[in-house]
Amino acid sequence: DISFFLMLTCSFCWLAARISSNVTLPCLVQHSSGMMSFGSNGMRVKWTKLGADESLDEDVLTSMGFHKKSYGRFEDRVFLQDTHDEDASLVITDVSMDDMGRYRCEVINGMEDTIQEVTLGVLDNISVVFPYSPPVGRYNLNFHEAEQACLDQDAVVASFDQLYEAWRGGLDWCNAGWLSDGTVQYPITKPREPCGGANAVAGLRNYGLRDKDTSLFDVFCFASALKGHFYWLVQPERLTYDEAVQACLDDDAEIAKVGHMFAAWKLQGYDRCDAGWLADGSVRYPISTPRKNCSPTEAAVRFIGFPDKSQKLYGVYCFKAQQ
Ligand SMILES: *[C@@H]1O[C@H](CO)[C@@H](O)[C@H](O)[C@H]1NC(C)=O
Ligand SMILES: *[C@@H]1O[C@H](CO)[C@@H](O)[C@H](O)[C@H]1NC(C)=O
Repeated sequence: DISFFLMLTCSFCWLAARISSNVTLPCLVQHSSGMMSFGSNGMRVKWTKLGADESLDEDVLTSMGFHKKSYGRFEDRVFLQDTHDEDASLVITDVSMDDMGRYRCEVINGMEDTIQEVTLGVLDNISVVFPYSPPVGRYNLNFHEAEQACLDQDAVVASFDQLYEAWRGGLDWCNAGWLSDGTVQYPITKPREPCGGANAVAGLRNYGLRDKDTSLFDVFCFASALKGHFYWLVQPERLTYDEAVQACLDDDAEIAKVGHMFAAWKLQGYDRCDAGWLADGSVRYPISTPRKNCSPTEAAVRFIGFPDKSQKLYGVYCFKAQQ
């Protein structure tokens, strides 16, 4: 009964890079059959970063024969990948937030012209978006409860832009959650049958605006950089939930919240293959380096569940706020 529509229809012409990394913007020249190849040194290539209108376009790089030139803030930071004759792909090194935007590649190769555009997203390293469902199970939060659920994790309800950026960074989640604008959406990077269709393109699936009092969904929360220290409490025994809370207090800390674990995992690469209690009564562990028996296929915060709080099977993650 719930319909969705695709926010984004272009799954190929954008890509995301992490801040400070190197990224390659693809631009491949198609030769019609019989055309003679001039080689990359015979091509004239021009890369431009597109502004809101033409007067705001920025030159990035031009190449003609052996003569190559980069411009402005791209100077000495960009070069052509040049792996083969038809390759006019651009490498940008040390990516910054300002590099985010749309780029155009123009190639004149003999008689042929090629124009391609690619959009670059840049992922900051100062925030994280994560899905949250409460102990009673998924699809149990109205909008107001969703706001409180994120606050309880030291986070806030994510905005559309924040979820969109997280999706560009690879977030894939098949349960719909509230966003701060009162819409309900979910991000899919690997299209599959139960999540809007195996043949649908990657994108944000949007259920639209929902009644904030009566509609029940999960929520996407947004947390920024940790203002404190997140850690696994080294201690000899496995603990009940109440013992876990006390163990952190005894260490001059508090039991960590879900937002703390996601922030430590995403922003600091925190990695620990031990399941531990968190403040909401859930048990999770953060894996940055996928490996056998931990999280073999992907870096992720693994979720064990909301076990019976008297179970003595787990350790605990603590958080010490900055003084
Ligand atoms: C980016 O590319 C430059 C130039 O090729 C190289 O020196 C540098 O190590 C690369 N940086 C990363 C993070 O890969
Ligand atoms: C984010 O990246 C910048 C640039 O590389 C670095 O200076 C900063 O320390 C990083 N911040 C965090 C929270 O990792």
